[in-house]
Amino acid sequence: MSPSMVAPVMEEENKKYQKGVKHLCDNGLTKVPTKYIWPEPDRPIFTKSDKLIKPKQNLKLPLIDFAELLGPNRPHVLRTIAEACKTYGFFQVVNHGMEGDVSKNMIEVCKRFFELPYEERSKYMSSDMSAPVRYGTSFNQIKDNVFCWRDFLKLYAHPLPEYLPYWPSSPSDFRSLAATYAKETKEMFEMMVKAILESLEIDGGDEAAEELEEGSQVVVVNCYPPCPEPELTLGMPPHSDYGFLTLLLQDDVEGLQILYRDEWVTVDPIPGSFVVNVGDHLEIFSNGRYKSVLHRVLVNSTKPRISVASLHSFPLTSVVKPSPKLVDEHNPPQYMDTDFTTFLRYVSSREPKWKNFLESRKITI
Ligand code: OGA
Ligand code: NI
Repeated sequence: MSPSMVAPVMEEENKKYQKGVKHLCDNGLTKVPTKYIWPEPDRPIFTKSDKLIKPKQNLKLPLIDFAELLGPNRPHVLRTIAEACKTYGFFQVVNHGMEGDVSKNMIEVCKRFFELPYEERSKYMSSDMSAPVRYGTSFNQIKDNVFCWRDFLKLYAHPLPEYLPYWPSSPSDFRSLAATYAKETKEMFEMMVKAILESLEIDGGDEAAEELEEGSQVVVVNCYPPCPEPELTLGMPPHSDYGFLTLLLQDDVEGLQILYRDEWVTVDPIPGSFVVNVGDHLEIFSNGRYKSVLHRVLVNSTKPRISVASLHSFPLTSVVKPSPKLVDEHNPPQYMDTDFTTFLRYVSSREPKWKNFLESRKITI
């Protein structure tokens, strides 16, 4: 078959699974359908007794206490942030100022959204990648070869008044709880940007900070139903996040793994904390000092898992490039200038694989 024939056949097959994993599970399931079975090298490693083989202990990410960041210990905390962004591309934040109720309510109302009848959820299904609200499954449900065990709800969130009218109207308290969550996450992001810029030794008043304040925010709610054969599939394939920073809230079920020293390690969830990670745009902006690290999600056979990722970056009209303050004759730019729209088009046009977009922007001499 010619390559041009492969895509339509696959797209036809993909249609069978468009209703998502939750729908599949609600109809009773004892085996993972072939569509979700990953090639062996990509699968998580389990023993015969269905226990995940853990390379070591769970990874304890560097912990940032936001209250300390605002006190006399700031220089020390900034150094910890810089080290974490270089070594892991990830850190965890506690004492971040968001009331426990705001995050609990968000997780809880998202659970209720995914428990709605399929007909209600499917009102928000769209193949338009730039739709203000998009309900879907897998990663790219039109193009993915193998599906992942994940349904999602993607909400454009900034500027909020522009997008809020499109958000789900059911459950009836969804909009108000999710809007509070989005606003407070945005504030947290702004504080983090200040700290990140300072940790890169870029002085205050930087225009990047102003651009980011007016930048894009997309809230992605991920729903991972229990899976009868978790050793065969993934909740999310290895990927890096495209934005500047991602702020991730998880419930108490583990699943997130990051690539650390060429090994997949599970991040220990700390109740009430946020996992923050460097995205591709920050790697470019920092001219490669901070790393946008690959991560993936495992599923399990007993517990449903919900996570909420808030992706923040520059406005869609911006050009993403290494900060001029980090480039000089000894530090030439390592990435080409990239406009954000091209970036998004690239990401949505193909199966996400590793970090190929970021790689394609690298300047090789
Ligand atoms: C993401 C992501 C991790 C998780 O949404 O980009 O990596 O634990 N989520 O759900
Ligand atoms: Ni991610």
